[in-house]
Amino acid sequence: MTRLTGKTALITGAGRGIGLAFAKAYVAEGARVAIADIDGQRAQDAATEIGAAALAVEMDVTSQQSIEAAVARTAEHFGPIDILINNAAIFSAAPIVEIERADYNRVFDINVSGALFTMQAVARHMIDQGTKGRIINMASQAGRRGEPLVAVYCASKAAIISLTQSAGLNLISHGINVNAIAPGVVDGEHWDGVDAFFAKHEGKPLGQKKREVAAAVPYGRMGRAEDLTGMAVFLASEDAKYIVGQTYNVDGGNWMS
Ligand SMILES: NC(=O)c1ccc[n+]([C@@H]2O[C@H](COP(=O)([O-])OP(=O)(O)OC[C@H]3O[C@@H](n4cnc5c(N)ncnc54)[C@H](O)[C@@H]3O)[C@@H](O)[C@H]2O)c1
Repeated sequence: MTRLTGKTALITGAGRGIGLAFAKAYVAEGARVAIADIDGQRAQDAATEIGAAALAVEMDVTSQQSIEAAVARTAEHFGPIDILINNAAIFSAAPIVEIERADYNRVFDINVSGALFTMQAVARHMIDQGTKGRIINMASQAGRRGEPLVAVYCASKAAIISLTQSAGLNLISHGINVNAIAPGVVDGEHWDGVDAFFAKHEGKPLGQKKREVAAAVPYGRMGRAEDLTGMAVFLASEDAKYIVGQTYNVDGGNWMS
């Protein structure tokens, strides 16, 4: 299929995991993709694997200068940006009485400010270029409901759902659609870290938390990065032009709303 032929996408945190799966899916649909990641080597390896339709961009979403440089580099290499996926994020967990201010600031700097100011920079670029673009933010089922040991990450993802609504309402007047995807539990390096945290805090053997969450998914297993690519392609496609400010659950049935 070539639903994104001629489109240029910037995907943050695309050096691995879900972002990398999005990059591959977009290229398969005819797009050119900037793989932006704080881990420049991973971004380069991913771009090399994908080929000429991919560009590696070392980018730290907590730095305004880095955000602006990534937008400029992508546009210089491929032309105007049509699609942004705000995918970079980190996980963090601690009981409320152990949360450290520095950790809170780091999570909000990357997951919330990083997404907001990358969205702002790309929206400014799209408006300047007259591009009727698409912005997709990565939320989470963690943003739908708090969890006892995951307060800060959950709050950061709730903020993404709210920012998606506000930005969606604001930017549609420029013809830019902003929507979000809320995955459930997706296996990969991110969840290796989550599993290790619960092993420590709940005294479980490594791998136990993954088995528990997998058994609780109505679909019957954890998600895979590839389970999310269909929604990411759809939201960037012409078929999604009347969708504004929404957050879609793609989680095997974990959350209903
Ligand atoms: N894996 C899951 O179960 C799950 C569930 C719900 C939501 N999500 C969300 O989906 C998105 C992707 O998740 P994933 O599992 O692929 O995560 P991941 O940890 O595997 O990948 C995140 C990527 O972001 C990059 N990154 C971190 N800090 C950065 C920064 N400051 N600037 C630029 N890049 C940075 C990392 O280097 C990494 O390549 C995230 O927003 C995550 O919160 C994941």
